[in-house]
Amino acid sequence: MKIIVAGSTGFVATEVIRQALSIPAITSVVALARRTTAVPQNAGPSADASKLKSVVCDDFENYTETVKKELVGADACIWLIAVTFSNVKTMPFEDVRKICLDYTLKGMETMAQLPRDSASNPLRFIYTSGHGAQRDQSQKPWIQGDYTLMRGKTESLILEFAKNSNGAVEACVTKPGIIDAPGRTGPVMKVLGSIGRAIISLPILDVGEIAATLLQQAVNGIEKDTLLHEDLVRIGQKALAAENIAR
Ligand SMILES: NC(=O)c1ccc[n+]([C@@H]2O[C@H](COP(=O)([O-])OP(=O)(O)OC[C@H]3O[C@@H](n4cnc5c(N)ncnc54)[C@H](OP(=O)(O)O)[C@@H]3O)[C@@H](O)[C@H]2O)c1
Repeated sequence: MKIIVAGSTGFVATEVIRQALSIPAITSVVALARRTTAVPQNAGPSADASKLKSVVCDDFENYTETVKKELVGADACIWLIAVTFSNVKTMPFEDVRKICLDYTLKGMETMAQLPRDSASNPLRFIYTSGHGAQRDQSQKPWIQGDYTLMRGKTESLILEFAKNSNGAVEACVTKPGIIDAPGRTGPVMKVLGSIGRAIISLPILDVGEIAATLLQQAVNGIEKDTLLHEDLVRIGQKALAAENIAR
């Protein structure tokens, strides 16, 4: 099967690609980003790097025909383009909204319109949001309120799009807390993580587990439209054991 990993240069996407290259059921990985995606350094002996195709997109609001051609025939998209919680203050909020919300919906809409074999299953669109993203727009959280409402609205719009797609698209929204990797969390993140956990009980998930979950849903089908922390741990650990993927 062919999968698209959008935001392929990012932290989670790098682990998704690393694992995908070792999964026999995945025969093609389109790495979609605003810059070139390299083969992950720790890909491992079972990885087949020839499956990876880096596709650079200069404008995520207007896909060129060249980029669209590379996306044709995909069975699933794992969407990881976003401005993360910790980077929200680095740019105007309208840019954050454009990247997190507009790019995602445009990407989903563009992929849904690409020609597909009538015998194919629906396109599986697997989106990663965040634990605190709030769908109820009347409930503004006191921490990063505009951001969490915007991410929640994005979740709702994705699920609504899939629901109204006449079976063309199936969607899944994952809601991890903090995503960590061995050696990644510096002292500042450790303190923030402790504060986050103390204030809003933010759970910590290993990047290997969420990557394995995203791939499992892409390959085997969507279990349910929203996956919370416990689901991500359960599905991810089972998938890692089944695929026997080393760290
Ligand atoms: N990391 C965590 O602890 C955590 C926790 C909960 C939820 N999440 C969610 O998980 C998802 C992935 O997170 P991550 O940690 O992997 O994020 P990341 O490392 O910051 O990666 C984000 C990706 O989005 C791309 N991107 C950002 N701005 C862009 C723009 N203007 N145009 C095109 N592409 C752009 C980045 O491209 P460049 O590489 O070119 O910048 C990168 O490929 C996000 O939705 C995030 O909110 C993450």
